[in-house]
Amino acid sequence: MARREIEHDVLPIPNGWFAVEWSRELHDGDVVPIHYFGEDLVLFRTRSGEARVLDAFCPHLGAHLGHGGRVMGDTLRCPFHAWQFDGASGDCVSIPYCEKIPPRAKLRSWDVQERNGMIFVWHHVEAKPPEWDFPVLEEIGHPDWSEARTVEHEFEAYVQDTHENNNDPVHFEYVHHMPTTPPGEITFSEDSTHYRIVNTSEQDTPIGPLELSLIRDSWGLGLTSVRSVGFPDAGLLMYSSTTPINEHRVCSRWLLTCTNNMVDYMGEEFMHKLVEGVKQDIPIWKNKVHRARPVLCAGDTYLGEFRQWARQFYSNPVGGEA
Ligand code: FES
Ligand SMILES: [Fe+2]
Repeated sequence: MARREIEHDVLPIPNGWFAVEWSRELHDGDVVPIHYFGEDLVLFRTRSGEARVLDAFCPHLGAHLGHGGRVMGDTLRCPFHAWQFDGASGDCVSIPYCEKIPPRAKLRSWDVQERNGMIFVWHHVEAKPPEWDFPVLEEIGHPDWSEARTVEHEFEAYVQDTHENNNDPVHFEYVHHMPTTPPGEITFSEDSTHYRIVNTSEQDTPIGPLELSLIRDSWGLGLTSVRSVGFPDAGLLMYSSTTPINEHRVCSRWLLTCTNNMVDYMGEEFMHKLVEGVKQDIPIWKNKVHRARPVLCAGDTYLGEFRQWARQFYSNPVGGEA
């Protein structure tokens, strides 16, 4: 067995809200096979415009509803024998050649939220209903803000490791060649599923010295936003969702927007920096092991706190105090 396999602490897939598609990619009547959380699923949009997610395989003879399934009103029709499943409940509501519907004719339906330009699914290892929510970000789609630019990448990583990056200021210096960030203030929401880190410093800018803040928010292990504030009447926002495809592969989606008055000179540069930044992280994530009990030093400011916080998103957390 390779050394990496022996040393690998296997992190299970966490619970939480995770994006499975961009809203703009799913039109009324579209049916798409998707594979996330190690599960085969079918994503579709009903004729009334609701995004729905069901387990993929028909309870009848097992056809995959994402391959040839058809949207009929608010239901999805199986391509094999035309049983119809309600998008919201997953119940079979029609069998064209039989009046009586067997009680077990049902598909698991997943909780879906559509906001901030993405379609989100609630994943819970024990199939518990959503335990927390996340906000609509006003900047996204606001007329004073630029049209969202988006990027998407699939790569080998644990979701938690990609999130841990945000709480690892030292790596910004060595991986991303950025100056060290000043110490930040961290605050947790009452239920502790959300936290915010604010770093504020005075910086020289083309319009003189300004007090600028970087505000980083996280909701669960998959969802983060980074806002730059302090420029008069202007701002930048990066929003991202990283979704487990299986235990050790993820799909990360990033969305960028800035106020219209900055887009011409900051928009392109911001996008370029983000894409380059992610490219720098990927080889580390891809080749590293996950240390459930890492050796930390006093300079690793937020990492211990982050590891403790992250435990709440697992039905069966691994490791202990960091
Ligand atoms: S397999 Fe789906 S209706 Fe028969
Ligand atoms: Fe990074």
